Order: sequence, then structure tokens, then C-alpha cells
Amino acid sequence: APALAGRDFLSNLDMTAAELRTVMDTAHSMKRGEWRAVKPLNGLSLALVFEKASLRTRTTFDVGMYQLGGHAITLSNQEVGLGTRERVSDVARNLERWVDGVMARVYLQGTLQELAENAEIPIINGLSDMLHPAQLLADYQTIEEEYGQDLRGKRIVYIGDGNNLANSHIHMGILTGTDVTIVTPVGYEPNASVAMDAVKRGANLTITNDLSAVEGADVLYTDVWISMGMEAEADIRRRAFRGYQVTPRMLDTIAGDGVFLHCLPAHYGEETVPEATEHRKSRVFDQAENRLHAQKALMYHLMGAMTPRW
Ligand code: CP
Ligand code: NVA
Repeated sequence: APALAGRDFLSNLDMTAAELRTVMDTAHSMKRGEWRAVKPLNGLSLALVFEKASLRTRTTFDVGMYQLGGHAITLSNQEVGLGTRERVSDVARNLERWVDGVMARVYLQGTLQELAENAEIPIINGLSDMLHPAQLLADYQTIEEEYGQDLRGKRIVYIGDGNNLANSHIHMGILTGTDVTIVTPVGYEPNASVAMDAVKRGANLTITNDLSAVEGADVLYTDVWISMGMEAEADIRRRAFRGYQVTPRMLDTIAGDGVFLHCLPAHYGEETVPEATEHRKSRVFDQAENRLHAQKALMYHLMGAMTPRW
């Protein structure tokens, strides 16, 4: 039965550890093809609203809805004008009259909050300045494929910018008991309140500027140095992050059976090089595939109890 019926998914912490387990089990089962004959979202529609570009998020939410029997409609921000053409709250009050859920990729986490406060239907975070929780579901599906379900104590090392991905990694450490290390240049550490909250909850979190923390990692993860919307800082950032690049030589220093993940897109020559994403330790394309399976599981658990209103 759907475990998150009608709820929002703005953060990984919108789920309990037990609910996450349920979603992951469904994701693995969907990947095995066990839901092929089931159309649990038959007659339901999901709006995909984008303030920023996307390949993976757009394709996987759309194809995922189709495979589950539902329908997706993609709305660019040129059409919607969230907060410019129209108040965010009015967009929410309109969409909920027609569709059964909204996935939004936005600049500000607060925009998602405002959508959620003004719509009864589930709102799904498809990336914000703060978090990228749907990505982390796929990432942990990939990590479970490597190491099994009990990930307590596994060393997840995130290297690079303390951005939305880094923050969501900290959240997953709280939920799964992984040992999360965030390695950044000085001044690019993850969100302080996300980190403090994690420590308060007893998470096994290390934040450091020391590159030697990469050694022995079970999972080495990186992301772009210049996130969407930060292009004006590109030069300063390229200088600040020098040395934090994931290369085959760095992959030699992680655990022998360790793996390399990257949410993609990659800015080759900056945070990594093609020889790393194509390395035998890389799982980045399995990880990209898992966006589809993990988000289908998420959508099923959020929307699977709804009946078409028409
Ligand atoms: N990883 C990810 O979210 O990719 P897109 O930006 O292409 O959606
Ligand atoms: N941190 C990146 C992730 C892209 C999927 C960004 O926000 O642009």
C-alpha cells in the first residue's frame, strides 16, 4: 500500500527511516520489472515545473508517470513565470484543480514551501538551491545495489562544493546511519543548520577541508563546482576548487571495492574527467538509470492512493 499518501517530498527528512526503506524496496522491485502489469497511477497527472534546465529529472519523472499509467505535463518557467508572471501561491491554487501532483525544480527552497502551503496535492522537490532529495533516492538505490540494505558505517565521502547535493547527503546519513564526510575548500562548506541538525540527531558526520579524507571511501561522490544559477562566480570557484578534482588517481585511493558516483551533468575538466566517469569503479550511469526506478517508487507512494477526480 502507498506509504506516503498525499504528502509532500521537499526533503529526504520528510520521510522516516522506515518509510525510506519501504520506498527503496519498491524501487528495487520496480527495477526488477515486477510492476510491469500494474498501473497504479492510472488516470493521474503530474505537472513538472522547471525554473532551470534538466535532462535526467525531466525525462525520468515523465517516463516514470507513463510507465505507472499516469501522465506528465512539462511546464517551463517561460510559460509559468513562478513569482514573476504570477504569485507562487496562485500557481499552486490553479495546478491543484487540474493535476494530482507537482514536481518543481526551483531556485529557492522557499518556493517549494509556498507551493506546498497552497496546494493539497503532493509537491515534489526536483532540486532547489538547498536540496536535491529525489536524486539521493536514486543514489542510495545504487549504493544498496553495491553493498546491500544495511549501510550503517559505510563511508560516503562527498568531495567538492557544499551545495544542494552535499546537504541532501547529510540528510541521508541521518536516515541510514552511513558515515558521511563532506570535503570542501574553505568557505564552501555545506549549510550550517543542516549540519548542526544532523549532529544533534546523532549522525556520523565529518566536515573537513582535508583531501586525505577521501582515502578508503566506500562511495566517493562529487558534483559540479558551479551549480545552475552560480555562473557569475565561475572564475572564483574554479580557482578555489583546484585540487578537488576526482581523477582515476584519486579513485585508486578509495576502497578496493569502492565506487564513484556523480549526479550528472559533469563539467569535465572541473570536478572530474571522463576517465573517472568511465572508470571500472564508476557507477554513474547505473545511478542515472536509477532516477527512473527510485522516482517511480516515490510517485507510487505519494500518489498511489489517489483516485482520478474526473
Ligand atoms: N542529476 C540531475 O538532476 O540531472 P538533470 O539536471 O539533468 O535533471
Ligand atoms: N548542484 C547542481 C546539481 C545539478 C543536478 C546544480 O544545482 O546545478
